[in-house]
Amino acid sequence: MLSLRPEDHALIEGLIERMSLAQKVGQILQTERLAITPEEVRDHHVGSVLSGGGSCPGDNRPSDWVSMNDAYWAASMTEGPGRLPIPILYGVDAVHGHSNVRGATVFPHNINLGAINDPDLVRRIGRATAREVLSTGVDWTFAPTLAVARDRRWGRTYESCSEDPALVARLAPAFVEGLQGDLDDEGIAACLKHFVGDGGTSEGIEQGDTRVDEAELRRIHLAPYPPALAAGALTVMASFNSWNGDKCHGHRYLLTDLLKGELGFEGLVISDWDGIDYLDDDYSQCVARGLNAGIDLFMVSENWRTFLKTVERQVREGIVHESRLDDAVRRILRVKVALGLFTKPRPARRPLAKQPVLGCPEHRALAREAVRRSLVLLKNDDALLPLARTARVLLAGKSANDLGNQCGGFTVEWQGASGNHLIEGGSTVFDGIRALASACDLDPEGRSADPTKHDVAVVVIGERPYAEGLGDIRSGEDVLIREGSQIRGTLKTLEPYGQEAALEALHPEDLETLTRIKANGVPVITVMLCGRPLATDPELAQSNAFLVAWLPGSEGAGIGEALFGAQPEGEALFPGRLPFAWPKDGGAPQWQGDEQENVRFPRGFPWPR
Ligand code: BGC
Repeated sequence: MLSLRPEDHALIEGLIERMSLAQKVGQILQTERLAITPEEVRDHHVGSVLSGGGSCPGDNRPSDWVSMNDAYWAASMTEGPGRLPIPILYGVDAVHGHSNVRGATVFPHNINLGAINDPDLVRRIGRATAREVLSTGVDWTFAPTLAVARDRRWGRTYESCSEDPALVARLAPAFVEGLQGDLDDEGIAACLKHFVGDGGTSEGIEQGDTRVDEAELRRIHLAPYPPALAAGALTVMASFNSWNGDKCHGHRYLLTDLLKGELGFEGLVISDWDGIDYLDDDYSQCVARGLNAGIDLFMVSENWRTFLKTVERQVREGIVHESRLDDAVRRILRVKVALGLFTKPRPARRPLAKQPVLGCPEHRALAREAVRRSLVLLKNDDALLPLARTARVLLAGKSANDLGNQCGGFTVEWQGASGNHLIEGGSTVFDGIRALASACDLDPEGRSADPTKHDVAVVVIGERPYAEGLGDIRSGEDVLIREGSQIRGTLKTLEPYGQEAALEALHPEDLETLTRIKANGVPVITVMLCGRPLATDPELAQSNAFLVAWLPGSEGAGIGEALFGAQPEGEALFPGRLPFAWPKDGGAPQWQGDEQENVRFPRGFPWPR
């Protein structure tokens, strides 16, 4: 329940009474910053603007962001004939820190947070993220993702804390509390996404079909929502997926009856990126169905003029009742009021604007803590770990010195990118080891491995960055044809990351490096960067110790600290537990969840939770 005062309700109702139809229609539009100028925001009464993944103003410095937000804010607050000042709401994907922005602290992805399973840490990360977002004049993040990923082939598995609904539900309210705080000058709006069933699609197809009965939908995929809503989450994003063939974006039962009715959600429901476009071949049908199903704010990437015209016509023709439009506007205004936007000064004058909190040492130290605590030790023969400071280390593997691979998708670019060019600040695994080891040779292919020179090799391997459908693993086109044919409306898919959920199939170069070093007689500690569990039997066999680091983000030094047991006093070493079962070659099917047999390591390993 949103805690608004009687005078807030009066303000909202007073505005709705006085707003013209054009202004109400403008209020339910969100478009991408590249598609709209401040003048157009003013002239078309636009309610919200976003940065899609990788869409950044100017040189991508906090001051560029603040100036951009200032310009949109001033436009939205310009009074004129038929135009009431209503502050703009600006949204970004700060899904693991304010990760679109150069120099931000890039926190580990949600899969790491699931391995730690500590609500207090999640709350602190939410808080730090909110502060970095506020320093750029932004009010809203499209996070947290509450997906319960049930198929490791899904390209968004790393956005999910766990395959276990109870674990996701435990962390969800803490995330909201951290981001939103008391909605004062240190809080931003959270957005629970993607409602609902995003992690349950057949074959792990992004935007695919979640074929489960209602009891299962509620037990698994809905489970994190009630606690997160009870924590006061202001916004929810509809999901691209379908439920038994029907798209969530047009699903009145899910969005209106269940979410707004049964669960009592009073905030706004936003569509995902052009999410209504896949409901029907006819765009006006798409708009009417989305609005009537219960979408309040529409994320329209480019064709916003057509959207505005269509909604206005449909309301005039009664295809959409004006009371539904009013309800959508009311929900958007509630969020703006709850955030204090009607009383806050322009973004540049807000307390945290341009303050040096982006990538500050305290936030980076917090991220390092999360990195250390999220590592899961799958193997440690002869207690090889932790290493002595006197150890002479050969550091190998393609990701040994690679910030981009550490951070994964949704980092500066939508897809992220390998290499050290995009990310400013932070540290690679190499930096972390170099700071602690008496000797460290960096040789990515490990050709120089020599037992007379090296006591041990640390080999950093794994996946490269990806996001959304480009991270899917799919054996062939036939899968899409078979699964997509169940869906009413269209299915948008992208080229998959690979064909098989086994590391050797996706990245044979990693096994080659491990085998080469092992054959030279140097003991191997493998550190795997990955957005999901993958079958790794051959790689485990070539490793004396094996550590899963998931997608740790910009603070790779945390890995170095854990390898040398250099964690702060009182912090356990390697406390991380598998948030997903770890598969074996030819073992359990790709889907996962309640079944914990026939896997290499069960969920909760090293010991059951
Ligand atoms: C994703 C959302 C994201 C949105 C805005 C979509 O493609 O599915 O998770 O919030 O883009 O960038």
